[in-house]
Formats: sequence, structure tokens, C-alpha cells
Amino acid sequence: MTPGGPRIQAPQAIADEDELERSLRPRRLEDFVGQEQLKDQLAVSIAAAASRGEALDHVLLAGPPGLGKTSLAQIVAFELDVPFTQTAGPALERKADIAALLTALEPRAVFFVDEIHRLPRALEETFYPAMEDGCLPITVGQGAGARVVTLDLPPFTLIGATTRTGLLTTPLRDRFGIQHRLAHYGPDELAQIVRRSARLLEVSVQDDGAYAIASRSRGTPRVANRLLKRVRDYAEVRGDGIITGSLAADALDLLEVDALGLDRLDREILRTLCEKFGGGPVGLSTLAVSVGEEQDTIEEVYEPYLLQCGLLERTPRGRSATRRAFDHLGLEGPGALTLI
Ligand SMILES: Nc1ncnc2c1ncn2[C@@H]1O[C@H](COP(=O)(O)OP(=O)(O)OP(=O)(O)O)[C@@H](O)[C@H]1O
Ligand SMILES: [Mg+2]
Repeated sequence: MTPGGPRIQAPQAIADEDELERSLRPRRLEDFVGQEQLKDQLAVSIAAAASRGEALDHVLLAGPPGLGKTSLAQIVAFELDVPFTQTAGPALERKADIAALLTALEPRAVFFVDEIHRLPRALEETFYPAMEDGCLPITVGQGAGARVVTLDLPPFTLIGATTRTGLLTTPLRDRFGIQHRLAHYGPDELAQIVRRSARLLEVSVQDDGAYAIASRSRGTPRVANRLLKRVRDYAEVRGDGIITGSLAADALDLLEVDALGLDRLDREILRTLCEKFGGGPVGLSTLAVSVGEEQDTIEEVYEPYLLQCGLLERTPRGRSATRRAFDHLGLEGPGALTLI
């Protein structure tokens, strides 16, 4: 699809995951499980915008990876019956890139900017008049002959997705009429997602099998779908293809996903905190180096779930492991050490 130029071939495994994600992505608001308050709010706003023939208010979706931000943005476009254009913060380098994309939009279209917190600061301001007044002032020419031309834009809906709301400037954030933070999903919702995905993948899953996968999915639909796929492999090779509760538990043990849904790196983070640093507190950068992982990945992907499980705490002096973390790893707590 990309014209010309050498392209790095994605490894087959990654391509398969992408394909899986696309095939399981909910298309309609009614297929999107959970996040009831947001869905209600969106349904009303969508219906109102559609009946007035106007573009929907700009929408900001925040939350950890894999909770459905991209899916929701596509659903909004589908429900509004308008085209969907997608880009990402780091892909926008020049004002002209934004001008080209925005002027080409059809009226009321959805313009989705993923990772909007990674938009270069200088470009962020380009969006202010575009979002507020539907126009884009650009400078034409250079030096003394330069002048500002204002381009009129078609009405559009900007949907921004971010894993880090804290990095968004207030002026940008304030220009989104609808803002929502996606929360981790509960086991019932995840089990529903597993059952839906199993139906689409034509895999037979029993209720306790769906729950076994759901309860180890770290509150994240993307993880639930990934685990379902792995468990399906196991069911086909070691079982009769049917995902029961005990088969799912065996498969997940083999995958080193524990009862809380923690994977190897989650446990490595906790173990490092508990064993190397006596429970902490320890700075994020030191922790990242110790486990050999990017700081951003720890903060955006791993930490939110560990915090939610009550295994980790953020303190002004750094990250600390909780009593529960020591218990979960079967380690003596730091209190026990000081008693000796
Ligand atoms: N509420 C939901 N109901 C059903 N499936 C969901 C839901 N949320 C997410 N999914 C599934 O999880 C997958 C990942 O979701 P999505 O790509 O929308 O997450 P994201 O928040 O955009 O993640 P990232 O921050 O990594 O871009 C989707 O392919 C979809 O199948
Ligand atoms: Mg996404």
C-alpha cells in the first residue's frame, strides 16, 4: 500500500496479531462491551449530531493500551456514517502535513489522532483554530513576502487517543467537548468479550473457560483476545478443541500467566522491587534499567494494572511494592527483615 521505498517486513507473528485484532474489533456501539457511561454519552451525542447534520464534538479518549480507544474511534465514525481518517501524533511532523489531511476531509468526517500526547508541541497549536473555528491559518512565502492565508476547513470531529493524559497541555485538552478515561474491565465484561471473540473465531468455549481467561487478562480486552488465541492452540493440541475451565487454567500456567494475570515482566518488576530494593521506594528510571525495559512501557503498560491490583504504590520518592506484592511472590515482607 505504501508507494515506493524499501519496507521492513513485519514478522509473521506480528502480522497475525494485527490481523486478529482487526477481525475481532467491534464495529457497532452495541458490540462494544462495557464502558456503559461512555457509550450512553456517545450514543446521545451521536444521535443529536446526526439529526442536526452537524459534526460530533471533538472526543478525547484516554487510558492504558488495549482498552478499546481505536475501536471506539472507528465505531463513532461507523455510527455517524462518515469516513474515518487515521494518523498518529509522531507521524505529523510539519504544519503542511496537518493542512493536507484536514483540508481533504469530507464534511463531518472523523479525524483520528492516535498517541496525541506525542504530537510535537509546535504543531499542537495548529489544531487550536482548526478545532475551535474550523480554520487553519498558514504562512505562505518567505521573508518579507510572507503572508498568512486562512484556509477554511470542512466541519470535522477530531478524536484523540492517549495513554498519557498528563502529557497533554491544558489548552489542547480543553478543546475536546467529550473527554473520557477508559477504565480496566471487570471479569464479567472480559468473559463476555472472550465469548464474543470465540464465536467469531469459531472456537468452542465453556463459561468457566471464558472466566478463566477473563480473570487472567489484566483487565484488558486485547490481552483477553491474545490469551484466547493461545488457549485455543493448546485446546487443539492437548485437548479436544473445547476450552473448559481446567484446560484454560493448564494452558495459562504453561504460558506463565499467573492467577492474577501477571506475566513474566510484571513479576520481574515486583521481584526486583522486593528483592533488590527491599520493597522500595525506587525511582522509575532505576527500576526500568534493572528489569531491562523502557521506562515508558513500564509506566504505560505495566504499572497501571499493578497499581490497580494493589501490588505497587507510587510515592513521591519512587515506586514501592506493597505487602500484597510480597505475599503474591511468596516472599517475606520487609517488615520481617527489620524485626530480626
Ligand atoms: N469494549 C470492547 N469490547 C470488545 N472488544 C474490545 C473492547 N475493547 C477492546 N476490544 C478488543 O481489544 C482490541 C484492542 O483494542 P484497541 O486497539 O481499540 O485498543 P486501544 O485502546 O486503541 O489500544 P492502544 O492504546 O494500544 O492503541 C480490539 O481489537 C478489540 O478486539
Ligand atoms: Mg489504539
